[in-house]
Amino acid sequence: MQFPTPERRRRLPANCRWPLSLVLVLVTFFVIFFAYNSPSLGDSNILSSYSLEDIKPSSDPRHSDLRRLIPQIYKPFIHPITAESFIGDNNVEYKLTQPPRFTKPLGRNVLLLDVDTRSLDGEGGMMRDEIDYHALTPHTAGMLGHYLYVRRFLAMIHGYDYKFIQAPSYTDRHQTWVKVPMIREALKTYDYVVFMDADAVFNHHHLPLEWLFNHWNITSETLIAMALDPSMDFNKDEHGNVNLNTGFIIAQASPRATEMFNIWEDCVTEDRYANCSKWRYEWSHEQAAFSNYLRYEYSGESEVISLPCAEANGYPSRAELGCTGEFVRHFWQDKGQTVSALQDAVTQYTTLRLHEQFHNQLEHTLVNATDTTLPLQSGEEVVI
Ligand SMILES: *[C@@H]1O[C@H](CO)[C@@H](O)[C@H](O)[C@H]1NC(C)=O
Ligand SMILES: *[C@@H]1O[C@H](CO)[C@@H](O)[C@H](O)[C@H]1NC(C)=O
Ligand SMILES: *[C@@H]1O[C@H](CO)[C@@H](O)[C@H](O)[C@H]1NC(C)=O
Repeated sequence: MQFPTPERRRRLPANCRWPLSLVLVLVTFFVIFFAYNSPSLGDSNILSSYSLEDIKPSSDPRHSDLRRLIPQIYKPFIHPITAESFIGDNNVEYKLTQPPRFTKPLGRNVLLLDVDTRSLDGEGGMMRDEIDYHALTPHTAGMLGHYLYVRRFLAMIHGYDYKFIQAPSYTDRHQTWVKVPMIREALKTYDYVVFMDADAVFNHHHLPLEWLFNHWNITSETLIAMALDPSMDFNKDEHGNVNLNTGFIIAQASPRATEMFNIWEDCVTEDRYANCSKWRYEWSHEQAAFSNYLRYEYSGESEVISLPCAEANGYPSRAELGCTGEFVRHFWQDKGQTVSALQDAVTQYTTLRLHEQFHNQLEHTLVNATDTTLPLQSGEEVVI
């Protein structure tokens, strides 16, 4: 398949706002329908195992096998892990500054992690058995986006793992603290844990984590990487340095990382750090604890990586803060945008694949009547 050329890949609309009623599931089923009826894709190993029974729109969607379908849709777009550069929004080129350290898919050594103490079973909530598309909560959209990100990379040998931890609640501090022990626990099983708040999303869904790890200089020494907050007074620690935001966390397993997470969780006991107990309930909780204390203790080169706010925090409509979230968007104050971000993530790629299918099927879809004249002359006809 010659599609897409790098040129076309580059032109993926960054942030289109198509009519939002373009329903994700319906579009997906259209693609299945076209794909199944297309000789080019029908021959592929992945789709040939579908039976019509599995994929017809009227069948119960819970029984259809999306596991192989989603990688198949995204496969032509996936950006190579070792690519020297990436063209982002507004045609900004990001170039690797050194040879890539990650050259092979990390696959199931990476966990993409959602954590919540709430039951999420209200209307449109993730843990509801069935949800109404129009009642989709931003929280559900965020989690589905994370899940989708993991699924699509199944096309590359094997994808990352995804888990949602329904966590117990703390009784002695704010619930945002719960990510700290849960990431620590996940690091017992996985080499890398990528944690995201439900209002944080990947912006370029065809860009693998390994490429980002290369771009962000993650090394074997790295314990954790987090994005800087916007540079404003209320985001600064006691030393006047801008805080790190815990909405997007890359953590790497090691005995030293385990120790760091333990010390982080225990910060509020003040055994080690005087005055940390105020961060039990005072905003910004575990973020302030890490920024005020932990990051100065773990100060080895590349142990704690501060990701640029412009790359891993914020979103374009808050561009005045300097944080436009090129790679990871974090919709702090406009959580509703999480829903349109998920819609873009599905429709951008699916629409391009639909267009591709239309072209592959031109002999069936196109009647080229441009050789005739209107009104039709005697003897002319358009054969349809
Ligand atoms: C990665 O490290 C190089 C130096 O080794 C530096 O020039 C570059 O800015 C770093 N990249 C990021 C995204 O911090
Ligand atoms: C703890 O807070 C008190 C009161 O704000 C301050 O005087 C003291 O220096 C702080 N201790 C440390 C170690 O920061
Ligand atoms: C339709 O036919 C005209 C005249 O033969 C040709 O120039 C044109 O490229 C055709 N269009 C398509 C889409 O094939």
